[in-house]
Amino acid sequence: MTEFTVNGQPVRYSGEGRTHLADFLREEMGLTATHIGCEQGVCGACTLVKDGKPVRSCITYAAACEGAKIRTLEDYRDDALMARIRAAFKEHHGLQCGFCTPGMLATAYDIATRLPEADEARIREELAGNLCRCTGYMGIVAAIKAVLAEGPHVAPEPPARDAVIASARFGAAEAPEVVAEAAAAPVVAERPAPLTDGHRLERVARIDLPAESVWAVLSDIRQVAACMPGASVESVEGERVTGAMAAKIGPITARFGGTAFVTYEPAEMRGAVAGQGGDGSSRSTARGEVHFALAPSGDAGCDLTCEILYKLSGPLAQVGRPAIVAGVVDRLLADFTANVEAAARGEAPTASAPPGFARLILAALRNMVGRST
Ligand code: FES
Ligand code: FES
Repeated sequence: MTEFTVNGQPVRYSGEGRTHLADFLREEMGLTATHIGCEQGVCGACTLVKDGKPVRSCITYAAACEGAKIRTLEDYRDDALMARIRAAFKEHHGLQCGFCTPGMLATAYDIATRLPEADEARIREELAGNLCRCTGYMGIVAAIKAVLAEGPHVAPEPPARDAVIASARFGAAEAPEVVAEAAAAPVVAERPAPLTDGHRLERVARIDLPAESVWAVLSDIRQVAACMPGASVESVEGERVTGAMAAKIGPITARFGGTAFVTYEPAEMRGAVAGQGGDGSSRSTARGEVHFALAPSGDAGCDLTCEILYKLSGPLAQVGRPAIVAGVVDRLLADFTANVEAAARGEAPTASAPPGFARLILAALRNMVGRST
């Protein structure tokens, strides 16, 4: 058993001795920012930071990392210096296909913090172990020069990890095989603060039933979950609900587990759900609020108005573009209202996880994988 930390979280490795660190990170932990090119220590694509120094993760065995502190590019998402380096790469056209970029960024960060006086010759010497198949060296060197010109840089302390993600994937007592599985986020005791940023969607769905009979379904959170494809409720304590939204896509299961707070105003036939959760597989988190209201409309029908606010963080945020999320919401809302209608009539829900939902998520995941391989 080998114990070390990855991005601040304890990990136990008990697999084969020949597995290299890059494979372990990518295959077992889903940390695909680390790229693999030559697997011989030549190209530098797999460069990451081990105990404060850049190393080749393709020639570093996971089993040989006892006590090591590993940092992958995923750990730099809130790092101001890395943000500056990334911006400089963009400004100076330091990336084309992007395959070498993770290793280049790790090396550039090391140069910026260790060699503040480096001139172009020294930068090129330090970069000699990182190959760019697109031969974008001029832009890469120019980007690093620009960052160095802004003055000495000190590597800040690594940021505290997101507790929701951490406990979902990297529990100290879990073996890597378990770590790789998606897991529900822990129960959140406090109601989240209102969302002040993020994206907003507003939708109105027509339901051909009296508002009162639809309200009878909407005012029961377990019935609401039964009508929502992929949703499940694990516990209800007063206003606090724990549960999950899941989508099975071939061998991949994306499962956002979390906690929501549900409030109802029966006299107005309106309510609100505010929640947050995490998906262990993609290491992404989501916060959201749904404000909904029923209003009689037309002959014996009603309108269900939903205002949705949401904010994604982590890898899925990169592919969860508003248009994709809007498509998912539209598909879900269509099936949800069909199920609510059925439930209000006393029938079993008929619409389950729709193919469109899976296709949209799968397209997003494919996009993400395509950008990280
Ligand atoms: S993949 Fe590690 S150096 Fe090429
Ligand atoms: S940008 Fe394509 S390999 Fe470097």
